[in-house]
Amino acid sequence: MKTLREYIKEAEEKKVAIGHFNISNLEGFHGVYNAAKKLNVPVIIGLSEGEEDFVGRNEAIGMIKQIREKENFPIFLNADHHYSFERVKLAVDAGFDSVIFDGANLSFDENVKLTKQCVEYIKNVNPTMLIEAELGYIGSGSNIKYTIPKGAGIKTIPEDAKRFVELTGIDMLAPSVGSIHGIIKSGEPHIDEKLVAEIKKATGIPLVLHGGSGLRDEDFTNAIAAGISIIHISTEIRLAYDETLIKSIIDNPKETTPYKILEPTVDAIEKIVEARLKLFNGIK
Ligand code: G3H
Ligand code: ZN
Repeated sequence: MKTLREYIKEAEEKKVAIGHFNISNLEGFHGVYNAAKKLNVPVIIGLSEGEEDFVGRNEAIGMIKQIREKENFPIFLNADHHYSFERVKLAVDAGFDSVIFDGANLSFDENVKLTKQCVEYIKNVNPTMLIEAELGYIGSGSNIKYTIPKGAGIKTIPEDAKRFVELTGIDMLAPSVGSIHGIIKSGEPHIDEKLVAEIKKATGIPLVLHGGSGLRDEDFTNAIAAGISIIHISTEIRLAYDETLIKSIIDNPKETTPYKILEPTVDAIEKIVEARLKLFNGIK
């Protein structure tokens, strides 16, 4: 099977994007995996620090590696938004396929310093693992927001991105190009695809779009055409899970079997992931 690095290269060449979906539990895992399997496209499962603590670092890695090896399916595990060297180190040592050091809320120099520390560690310990970093703050938290968070949404300057990549040696960059983490209730964020193209040209490395929930279809297709190779979705999945679970419990007050109560949540997640994967991979 190809490596994650090779799948990303292939996505760059084909002008498609690999879907990255955050999960909190086994229902999330099955929803994402079912959809990717149905469409036969590579997929990345993301675990933020909190999700990783809840699911279990080794449990998640075991699950992904088993599927990859036994079913020969390209599913990968990313340590999403890790905020310290110590947390990045735990993910590297455990055997994730990729990790994101998120220093987006730090000064440029501090972000460079800590990102570099993570890059050096990874290149020494596990050079096949990929490291992504963020430049430009798009807020944090996959939830509903009524206003754009303070300090978020300032777009990444291409020259800064170029300097950041040269100074750190990262494999992939998450720039701020118009999206915000979460679903924003006040006004729709739009992707600045011209800026995506400028950052791509300036850096020459794969670009990752965060904060995918709530964007219009054309934002995604334009962003991919301009040079985005991975797209992150989380809030949409969380909402679908929560709403479906509440409904399932209310509709079946006498049901006591957890898997029967939870089954509709897998279908709800699968539906969302399938629609996003079709769009990201140009499947009609
Ligand atoms: O890393 C996770 C994401 O960027 C998800 O953002 O919650 O807006 O979909 P979202
Ligand atoms: Zn993100």
